[in-house]
Amino acid sequence: MSITWNPELRNRSLMRLGDFTDEEMLQLIRLARELKARRAAGIRGDLLRRKHIALIFEKSSTRTRNSASIAVRDEGGDAEFLTRNDTHLGLKESVKDTARVLGRMFDGILFRGFAQATVEGLKKWSGIPVWNGLTDDFHTTQILADLMTMQENFGEDLRGLKLAYIGDGRNNVANSLMMGCAKAGVNYVNCTPESLMPDPVLVKEAAEVAARNGSSVEVVHDPKVGVKGANVLYTDVWVSMGEEDKKAERLKLLRPYQVNAELVEATGNKGGKLIFLHCLPAFHDHETVVSKESGAQEVTDDVFEAPFSKVFDEAENRMHTIKALYVSSLGDPAAL
Ligand code: CP
Ligand code: NVA
Repeated sequence: MSITWNPELRNRSLMRLGDFTDEEMLQLIRLARELKARRAAGIRGDLLRRKHIALIFEKSSTRTRNSASIAVRDEGGDAEFLTRNDTHLGLKESVKDTARVLGRMFDGILFRGFAQATVEGLKKWSGIPVWNGLTDDFHTTQILADLMTMQENFGEDLRGLKLAYIGDGRNNVANSLMMGCAKAGVNYVNCTPESLMPDPVLVKEAAEVAARNGSSVEVVHDPKVGVKGANVLYTDVWVSMGEEDKKAERLKLLRPYQVNAELVEATGNKGGKLIFLHCLPAFHDHETVVSKESGAQEVTDDVFEAPFSKVFDEAENRMHTIKALYVSSLGDPAAL
């Protein structure tokens, strides 16, 4: 079973997708596909033997936390899960001091939290690879799994496909997805209201990357226009973690941006030409405390549960892509 990784990725951190060249990003996803096949063949190896990863989580998580933990354990290493209550970080100890301590003990840090400055500080001061597991601004590792899931459905070369993102156009997922699509040559359309448009600096940056890969980046307000010809419909929650005070306003604003049967119809694409993705957790029914109380539903249940919905493959791929990051950064080629 072939497992290869680019030696240029050794000891590399990942703050945002722009930190990697387009080819490095695609190599990483290729490695994730190889590691997925390795696990499917029942191989639990030693590529990360005696590697210790600190998982610092200021925000809740199901997928990222468990992916980050299982990924290192699968290959012989271990993870320490640290919530806000477990360390002094930010309360009695600065990011700079905490980073310098953890850097003496661990081989890598995966961080999920609020400020992008925190993950950047951990990278700057720890001296070990640090990976961004979601901040207010970016959800870098998520997009690796999204692109991998697209490859599983449309083939390795994603150039020329169209992805329509519908909803909160300036959240962490939207920001990173825009850049991930640009790097993979996928045409990206962000369908969002005027008040939730992405930062023009990020749009310009992504549009330049897209142009060199023969694709485009667009922001439109009418979802029915934006999704026309889309191969991927992608949405996320209307209220991200840390923005709970915006709930009432967002629900009102984003109701016309719900992904439902009508919007699927508006793509004009069915059969094998269309998939639905969502980073999850998703509000698609009223089975959760939050959705019961708020009525939020960014995607209807029929779309979420449809055969073209690949959200659980996407969730699984979080683990393989995070493992690829660890292996390319810290893996022992002699253990192959
Ligand atoms: N998609 C994602 O990051 O999920 P979690 O919040 O469960 O980690
Ligand atoms: N935009 C969402 C993503 C959750 C994985 C949030 O930040 O809450």
